Amino acid sequence: MDKRMSVIEEAAAFMSSWLDGRKPVAGVILGSGLGQLAEEIEDPIVVPYVRVPGFPAATAVGHKGNFICGNLGGKCVLAMQGRYHYYEGYPMDTVVLPIRVMIKLGIKYLLVSNAAGAMNKSFNIGDLMLIRDHINLLPNPLIGPNLDEFGPRFPDMTCAYDLALQDRMLKIAEKQGVKLQRGIYVSCTGPTYETPAEYTYYASMGADNVGMSVTPEVIVARHAGIRVLGMSVITDIAHEAEDDYITDENEIVRQADLASRKMTGLFRELISSL
Ligand code: HPA
Repeated sequence: MDKRMSVIEEAAAFMSSWLDGRKPVAGVILGSGLGQLAEEIEDPIVVPYVRVPGFPAATAVGHKGNFICGNLGGKCVLAMQGRYHYYEGYPMDTVVLPIRVMIKLGIKYLLVSNAAGAMNKSFNIGDLMLIRDHINLLPNPLIGPNLDEFGPRFPDMTCAYDLALQDRMLKIAEKQGVKLQRGIYVSCTGPTYETPAEYTYYASMGADNVGMSVTPEVIVARHAGIRVLGMSVITDIAHEAEDDYITDENEIVRQADLASRKMTGLFRELISSL
């Protein structure tokens, strides 16, 4: 058996015994911006990543490292409180390991959130952006022998972000009176924030915002035919070289926390509708 497959299966078997018969319908990645959602999960079973065979401890700022399984909006969800980032030095197989474990556990949907900087000049700090497409500038997590058990060698990425889920989310946002931007997300390795020239370059590629995560997880989910919804909190704005501006990680975490309540309300209603 492929070494990756045995790691995934061992972790999934461990999680399955912890979940005690629960069958999560959706996986939710609580990146910056959805921390609040963790507190709203009812009847939670919490499994720290470090306890799961094959999982290292998460280290990124503003990120904890737990699986939380419980009810939200009347549905059983499996949330990831924190994620593994490529910039932390983990191999791509580790970055996407939790997603493959959730797929093994039977999720049908993956809801992903993150913090991102905006190139689109009509966006403001604190805005939420529904991701309608992405440009992946991280290494592709499917490089290497294909895991046929999950999906095909050359997966289609035409509708990476599920159109029906986007439609539903736009309606929910309208109903809740939350302004929702929509755009194209580009992912880079980090850990540096962008130079002004890089922001300009990414904007010229057609991207509206930029971050350091999301795309590996989405690619692996789409490989397995999981339906995906992605949302970013805009925590900072692309700036010019002559601006008196410093992209500050503490301010980014603060902005993400401020937006958390809005995003949590949207996700809760979407989950309830699944
Ligand atoms: N660039 C990359 N990643 C980010 C940013 C940014 O401006 N803001 C939050 N995460």
